[in-house]
Amino acid sequence: MRANRAFLARVVRHLAREAGVRQFLDIGTGIPTANNTHEVAQSVAPDCRVVYVDNDPIVLAHARALLTSTPEGVTDYLDADLRDTGKILARAAQTLDFSRPVAVMLIAILHVLDDDDDPYGIVATLMDAVPPGSYLALSHAASDIVPAQSAELKKRLDRLMYQKSILRPRAAVLRVFDCVEMLEPGVVRVQEWRPDTEAEAKSPSNMWGGVGRKPA
Ligand SMILES: C[S@@+](CC[C@H](N)C(=O)[O-])C[C@H]1O[C@@H](n2cnc3c(N)ncnc32)[C@H](O)[C@@H]1O
Repeated sequence: MRANRAFLARVVRHLAREAGVRQFLDIGTGIPTANNTHEVAQSVAPDCRVVYVDNDPIVLAHARALLTSTPEGVTDYLDADLRDTGKILARAAQTLDFSRPVAVMLIAILHVLDDDDDPYGIVATLMDAVPPGSYLALSHAASDIVPAQSAELKKRLDRLMYQKSILRPRAAVLRVFDCVEMLEPGVVRVQEWRPDTEAEAKSPSNMWGGVGRKPA
């Protein structure tokens, strides 16, 4: 989880600083913690606009902690299910300008969708709604990083969490990025995505992560 949060922060910093992105749609926000998306983005560019989306009533109860925007930027919170892309896009459009690049962030959430939910179609719908030059950033629980322990991991996650977890191999995560051009270093273990330090690169995780750019 630590490596995944560090990945989130590095991705947002990269997108705001190097790629010049000023709009973020962060779906599957989680309970506010350190380095929330708007804090990282607005520390680079105070005018960043961030829409958070989650369907957990507990996250909703803590949403006030996410609505602490800089005066130049905006943060908004939307109580919605990832499967309801129509609602997400309609409400997000009240805060984000969909004629300008948006970073769609799906950090540690796609594993709650099984193949019958059509995660690939959901991501494609979200990416269809944003203009060229937009980004897709995601991380996903892996079935093939520590394959011998995957079955036990899934069993424990399913016991602890209210939704079942679908661990996926790297090839399936790569497929989610079909609609975009991958940024280097591609889909890697999250700690290996442009780590700031050697220690960060070595911190353990069981997550694949990557970032892609919607081509013109
Ligand atoms: C593992 S947490 C990840 C939180 C954060 N993105 C991170 O990486 O630290 C997954 C989040 O997705 C939310 N979530 C799960 N299923 C969802 C759904 N169908 N629609 C919207 N949010 C969902 C959960 O409530 C939870 O807050």
